[in-house]
Amino acid sequence: MLPPALQRAAKGFSTGRVEIPAELPSDMTYIVTDNCIVCKYTDCVEVCPVDCFYEGENMLVIHPDECIDCGVCEPECPAEAILPDTESGLDDWLELNRKYASIWPNLTERRDPMPEAKERDGETGKLQKYFSEAPGEGD
Ligand code: SF4
Ligand code: F3S
Repeated sequence: MLPPALQRAAKGFSTGRVEIPAELPSDMTYIVTDNCIVCKYTDCVEVCPVDCFYEGENMLVIHPDECIDCGVCEPECPAEAILPDTESGLDDWLELNRKYASIWPNLTERRDPMPEAKERDGETGKLQKYFSEAPGEGD
């Protein structure tokens, strides 16, 4: 079985013996989690091949339906805030990513981190303490 990203990339591809349908369903996505908040390093947006990051005032989110599950953003985040949604306990973060990706503007180019990024990197409970629903500027 091909990974979902390759299944999609192989749209309509035929091996000669097996037809791979153009749109096989995939439930997988990567998502942005707590430690992005008030860090917002933005290294992630530089590597995403489908530009599916969206910017809030103090964090980014990934659009789950646009993410092709390639995984290249995960190691780029200095705050280790990007995770595959296959990890347990991330349902609320998946819904947060989905909700705000449909509201906030798209961001495709790296920006300076937030001023308090280093100081707040690794702090727990950022969602409750600092999360802002306000949109970022996008580009
Ligand atoms: Fe973009 Fe790939 Fe990261 Fe999804 S996993 S947000 S497609 S870089
Ligand atoms: Fe946030 Fe990490 Fe990107 S801190 S903005 S997910 S590089």
